[in-house]
Amino acid sequence: MTAAPATPSVAALPHWETTPDDLPRAVREVKQALRARIEASGRTVEEVFAVVERQIAERVAEIRAAKESGEEVWPVIDYADIADGTVTPDRLAALRRRGCLVVRGHFPREQALAWDAGIVAYVEGNGFFESYRGPGDDFFGSVGSKPEIYPIYWSPAQMEARQSERMATVQSFLNSQWKHESAGTTWFDPDRDSLYPDRIRRRPPGADSDGLGAHCDPGTLDLWMTQAYQQAFRHLFDGSIEEYDPWDAAHRTAGPQYPGTTMCSAFRTFQGWTALSDMAHDQGVLHTVPIPEAMAYLMLRPLLADVPDDEMCGVSTNQVFPASERWHPLLLEALSGIPDVRAGDSVWWHCDMIHSVAPVRDQQGWGNVMYVPAAPWCERNERYAADVREAFLSGSSPSDFPEEHYERSWPDRFAPEQLNTTGRRGLGLG
Ligand SMILES: [Fe+2]
Repeated sequence: MTAAPATPSVAALPHWETTPDDLPRAVREVKQALRARIEASGRTVEEVFAVVERQIAERVAEIRAAKESGEEVWPVIDYADIADGTVTPDRLAALRRRGCLVVRGHFPREQALAWDAGIVAYVEGNGFFESYRGPGDDFFGSVGSKPEIYPIYWSPAQMEARQSERMATVQSFLNSQWKHESAGTTWFDPDRDSLYPDRIRRRPPGADSDGLGAHCDPGTLDLWMTQAYQQAFRHLFDGSIEEYDPWDAAHRTAGPQYPGTTMCSAFRTFQGWTALSDMAHDQGVLHTVPIPEAMAYLMLRPLLADVPDDEMCGVSTNQVFPASERWHPLLLEALSGIPDVRAGDSVWWHCDMIHSVAPVRDQQGWGNVMYVPAAPWCERNERYAADVREAFLSGSSPSDFPEEHYERSWPDRFAPEQLNTTGRRGLGLG
């Protein structure tokens, strides 16, 4: 019998549970420790990265071939199949492989159009456009000075969608693609959503938009620097890269996050939105790098020798995690846009995946979406639900968002007595 080889434990890595005061120093320290940890496993950082790069390059080639043959890169599943449990194994496999999905007919088209009209009536009736004070943050602010993003959270339309049975059905289906239990721990409840409140985008016909650059949203430097994420991404750093599973929720649902204007306090299995208008694929729509495993590339790339010691390939706190031609050209080759969607379809992508919004000039038709992700009940989301309850009851902007609070005095916002069981459970109201 031989003793197991001694490997340094994750606990041995330096970690910062709140934003470090001296960021460049912390970056240098954590990079040095991560490199040493990888090398203790018997492979160099370059060898480990090469494993990831090969896998990603295969996926990129596959996506390119799909595009060339006219095949749709984004998987599409009918809502009826999700509701009836008749999604075919090959569709399921496509969802897992690409990490993104269009749900056709998630809501009847008339329902989605009625919600869109309801939002217009809600904001116009409350004088929103007269009182609009300009973009409240510096990220979506880059889209333009007109309010395409409405910082509105509590309209009847949004709340009806969030607490609807159809939304719960799709969220459970998406959550169940993740491994939510391991080592005796239940990381999240796939059948209870936390109703993460987010905004609305309504982009009018004729609009010009520069879109949004490629980025991802799960976090920033905290992804390398907090103990929980060091554990979540342990396979990237401990010599077992082949075991890294982007669908494993272990250690992802309780840890802290460094604050910032673009933060999301919730753990989301998938980000998502529901279309409130028909949108053609060439009208400034969402793109993703449809490779969930690309996160391994993003996490390991800064450890290579060509990146300065105090640099994380452009990642810093208080701004989104960028994907760039400079550091991630291979990944960006796979950027793939959604197909045409109709009002009532919904669009989803794995929470770690790189995404962007294409620019558009003289947009044809409306581009209206309601952001509703899948944010299953877990320690982190339960914590944030306390803030959400408060914001819901007072009509305030939720604490992840700029303090704009337009709806506080709006009498027709969604009322507590309109909550159904899903809504009450989602807000933690029993
Ligand atoms: Fe984003």
